[in-house]
Amino acid sequence: MSDKSNMEDLYQDPIATAEKAAAKIAVLTGKKSHDVALVMGSGWISATEAFGKPSHEFPVTDLPGFPAPTVEGHGGVIRSYEIQGANGTINALVFLGRTHLYEGKGIEPVVHGVRTAVKAGCKVVVLTNACGGINRGYKVGQPVIIRDHISMTATSPLIGANFVDLTDLYSKRIRELVKKEDPSLSEGVYVHWRGPAYETPAEINMLRTMGADLVGMSTVPEAIAAHALGAEILGISLVTNAAAGVTGEKLSHTEVMEAGKAAAGRMGELLGKVLHKL
Ligand code: HPA
Repeated sequence: MSDKSNMEDLYQDPIATAEKAAAKIAVLTGKKSHDVALVMGSGWISATEAFGKPSHEFPVTDLPGFPAPTVEGHGGVIRSYEIQGANGTINALVFLGRTHLYEGKGIEPVVHGVRTAVKAGCKVVVLTNACGGINRGYKVGQPVIIRDHISMTATSPLIGANFVDLTDLYSKRIRELVKKEDPSLSEGVYVHWRGPAYETPAEINMLRTMGADLVGMSTVPEAIAAHALGAEILGISLVTNAAAGVTGEKLSHTEVMEAGKAAAGRMGELLGKVLHKL
């Protein structure tokens, strides 16, 4: 399917296209439904090694509505895993890579993966990302649980009189569960920055004053879209660099990717433990 024809349905009817994509996942995996979805951000992909071998793997472009990936380190692949949980086998749908707002394709492709996952049956959506640390107490390589967010993009995935409550967007129940697994984990407020340019030091100072701890270019629209369809959300950020101006160092995508890779073992172990408890 060409990228163009693959995308037309999505812009016309995003929810129906997510339903079609979910139906195709059921065909490709032979599984009627999945339970949990994980979106693996920059540098998180090798963390999936902790889940064992996937039962199925296919490119996102096999499904209706998914554009071909454009960012280095964002794979554009979906995997299905069978993971042993506390109450039997969990079918996990893992997205290696995502579409970002800064790619200029609009908001629909950004949230299509999580909408597809929820339509495929996922009741919990785990969103991971790489981010800059605004909080001076954070270290590079540290995972931080997202407690809340601030959207600086003024873009919502929702259209119409859809007044969704976001009071408990990042599920308190799941955050408590994760902290029980690893009490050393901090919680922070994540800012969604459109990008693709990183922030200026002045913008980072502004964001810190607003109460932000972390800044990145993803996660927020996906969290809202998946929650609006009824899923519980867990967000985990990996601090891959100090945000602009915090140390005076320049920011580079290569360093972001390297910090991600270096922390992948710990991230995988953490996600594996959490999945067992869900
Ligand atoms: N800012 C925005 N997005 C990011 C950063 C950052 O410092 N690091 C990784 N993603």
